[in-house]
Amino acid sequence: MNDTASSLLAKVESHDALVGIIGLGYVGLPLALAFAERGFRVLGFDVDPDKVEALRLGECYIKHIDRSRVQAAVESGRFEATSDFDRLDEPDVILICVPTPLGSHREPEMRYVEGSAWQIRNRIRKGQLVILESTTYPGTTDELLVPILAGTRADRRQTDTARQPETAEEADPRRDGGNRPASRRADSPRPTDANERQPLACGKDFFVAFSPEREDPGNARFGTCNTPKVVGGVDQVSGDLAEALYAQVMETTVRVASARIAEASKLMENIFRAVNIALVNELKIVFDRLGIDIWDVLDAAETKPFGFMRFNPGPGLGGHCIPIDPFYLAWKAREHGVSPKFIELAGEVNMRMPEYVVERLSIALNERGIPVKGSHVLVLGLAYKPDVDDPRESPAFEIIDLLLGRGAEVSYHDPHIPTAPRMRSWPDLPPMASVELTASGLQAIDAALIVTDHHAVDYELILEHAPLVVDTRGVLRHRNGKVRRA
Ligand SMILES: NC(=O)c1ccc[n+]([C@@H]2O[C@H](COP(=O)([O-])OP(=O)(O)OC[C@H]3O[C@@H](n4cnc5c(N)ncnc54)[C@H](O)[C@@H]3O)[C@@H](O)[C@H]2O)c1
Repeated sequence: MNDTASSLLAKVESHDALVGIIGLGYVGLPLALAFAERGFRVLGFDVDPDKVEALRLGECYIKHIDRSRVQAAVESGRFEATSDFDRLDEPDVILICVPTPLGSHREPEMRYVEGSAWQIRNRIRKGQLVILESTTYPGTTDELLVPILAGTRADRRQTDTARQPETAEEADPRRDGGNRPASRRADSPRPTDANERQPLACGKDFFVAFSPEREDPGNARFGTCNTPKVVGGVDQVSGDLAEALYAQVMETTVRVASARIAEASKLMENIFRAVNIALVNELKIVFDRLGIDIWDVLDAAETKPFGFMRFNPGPGLGGHCIPIDPFYLAWKAREHGVSPKFIELAGEVNMRMPEYVVERLSIALNERGIPVKGSHVLVLGLAYKPDVDDPRESPAFEIIDLLLGRGAEVSYHDPHIPTAPRMRSWPDLPPMASVELTASGLQAIDAALIVTDHHAVDYELILEHAPLVVDTRGVLRHRNGKVRRA
């Protein structure tokens, strides 16, 4: 380890290192709080001025994160949020937690990661450790991040605005970036243009690693600090430094030999889930044809103490990870001439589920002599999983779209999502707001459709007053004749 690395290691171990976090969403914010709560100073960066403003006021925009944690971190002076990316030269360590969605052809959309890399590159200084946490295809850290940071990739214009399409200034032109907080450290060098910079060497002057985020929002048992953290560096020293950093905050760190292994391990975990969910969704359809309840089958199968892991069927995949991440690997595999069949097949089966649910609902309405057209359906749950306020990729939107397309009147109830956000994939959905659950309201609908099994929903009230309940989550199993599985 050279002097640059040794002095960074000393700062990390004494908790004197300033931790920068780019992207203060579901992943970045809990991570920022974890570091601040362990005594690190944290500087969070986000392009969304509303988020930055909320955090500065000690407020929290993520429901399952206790506001008091944000307030305490801000009041302690250890956590500050900013949209001023010129301050990226201040942190000793920078964690990148920006989105990695899919493009319109299911290809990796890397512009957020790339944008962050250029932002860092333009301010990079000797002695910084950069760790990518966003889920991505194996090779991203080595092939995309390092060349940009090292200045060996110059295929984009080197001006700030061209480099970062997602800045706060661009999101809101009134913010001209001239509001640099007075707290900027006096000893931090002023940023200069990347063209004027001497190239810095990765592994010597700056350090790079990948560590996949395993955040499971709403999980009461496993949070940021007690979920083992996989870490892989692009070289030995980078890996050592990243491992040392996480060891200050996480109960368990799992060191792997390379960034690529760390990247691949995250995809392995999510592909495993996607494939198993597809399997159980398919078996649900098969067993239903055979007159067998999948939930009874699962209860029996999971009594096997070895060799079986339970996955539950549902109305389709949701969230930022499972519907998206597998295709990152499929894309990379195709680049190398391999076509991973399980990933594509699982995607196909899971993507058909909303259609299946609507079909089952149509049959149940038909049994009562009610056509879908003109029927009133109450969708229960908009979030992609129980007890969270996250609607991303939720199958509820496709189900609503299909029902509206067939002429149904649709309303929804979700205790965690008071108004339906505008979704990029469903731009034509009408604005909707969560309706109250009342006896008279339930009596006025034709069917309630359970899409998300939030615990805060009064299912007994629904069972008592709704004329028909179609259940995709096994909430009302073995209940009276008005419940249908889907
Ligand atoms: N949400 C999860 O449960 C979860 C779990 C594991 C891994 N991940 C992965 O972590 C990454 C982040 O996911 P997330 O759920 O936190 O996303 P998110 O959308 O909740 O948060 C991302 C944040 O980054 C900000 N942002 C976007 N572009 C930016 C830029 N160029 N510079 C600075 N900030 C920028 C956005 O404003 C937003 O606040 C993704 O790769 C995701 O796949 C997410």
